[in-house]
Amino acid sequence: MNKTRIITLLSALVVSLAAVSLLWAGTTVEDTFDMKTKEYTEAGGHKYSPVPFTHKKHHEDYKITCGECHHDENGKALELTMGDDVQRCIECHDKLGKAPKGKGKKKLKGKEKRQYHAEAVHDNCITCHKAFNKEFKKKAKDKKAKGPAPTSCKKCHTEGKIKK
Ligand code: HEC
Ligand code: HEC
Ligand code: HEC
Ligand code: HEC
Repeated sequence: MNKTRIITLLSALVVSLAAVSLLWAGTTVEDTFDMKTKEYTEAGGHKYSPVPFTHKKHHEDYKITCGECHHDENGKALELTMGDDVQRCIECHDKLGKAPKGKGKKKLKGKEKRQYHAEAVHDNCITCHKAFNKEFKKKAKDKKAKGPAPTSCKKCHTEGKIKK
């Protein structure tokens, strides 16, 4: 094998390695994962069990665009394709748990309420599920028909409240 041939082979190898690493670049996301934001752990742990979330199914089977759930720092829907980076909800909705309520506590609404991570997440998931189930019932023309999208605590937090 002469020198030029070796160099040609080597450069071909370099080019194909670069192509492979391009394909592998970007953020990957599991098809399904448990939602259990790690910041809760440092603050004494979750109150409710992790929530299994079918990320891929929501996008592919239920035909929900990325921007229905992922938005920018102004709340504007993002146009994404698989592999793009996204920020986790906690990075902006950064107060842990639910908004405080009860005697002597100011009742928060809207944006202020959604500063709390659990309120923002619930708002996203449950608002869509309720709307979907409503349409589902209408189409089913059966008053007793139950929509398939979960809206009760136990259907999402499948193990319920965590005993401490
Ligand atoms: C559509 C699914 C869904 C429903 C219905 C739902 N949750 Fe959640 N909830 C979540 C997700 C997802 C999180 C975020 C968990 C995380 O990222 O750690 C969450 C977070 C929370 C948190 C903050 C984390 C923790 O465990 O301390 C609390 C408290 C909570 N939910 C309570 C409830 C209660 C009480 C109900 C019923 C009234 C309820 N949730 C209904 C999906 C749901
Ligand atoms: C039905 C809502 C929903 C849809 C639709 C959706 N996502 Fe997500 N995605 C989430 C939630 C919730 C998380 C978890 C965020 C967290 O942990 O705070 C997530 C996590 C991710 C992550 C991992 C982030 C990390 O650092 O852990 C990536 C990447 C991602 N999504 C990209 C996309 C792309 C690209 C699309 C469209 C092709 C999409 N998502 C569609 C709700 C959705
Ligand atoms: C880069 C910062 C940022 C990230 C990351 C982020 N949000 Fe938001 N979100 C905002 C801002 C800003 C608003 C507008 C203020 C408001 O309405 O709360 C908003 C609004 C919302 C709203 C109200 C939107 C409406 O149309 O009513 C929901 C629900 C929500 N976010 C849920 C989520 C969820 C779930 C995630 C993670 C998948 C997430 N956000 C990630 C900044 C962010
Ligand atoms: C924009 C709409 C939308 C949003 C946002 C959304 N979902 Fe759903 N989800 C659906 C629909 C539609 C179904 C039922 C589809 C069917 O069975 O035909 C569903 C079903 C589910 C189911 C039961 C079936 C399955 O695939 O596991 C779970 C659990 C669930 N969603 C969790 C979540 C959680 C957790 C979030 C928030 C992080 C979320 N969803 C956000 C539309 C949405």
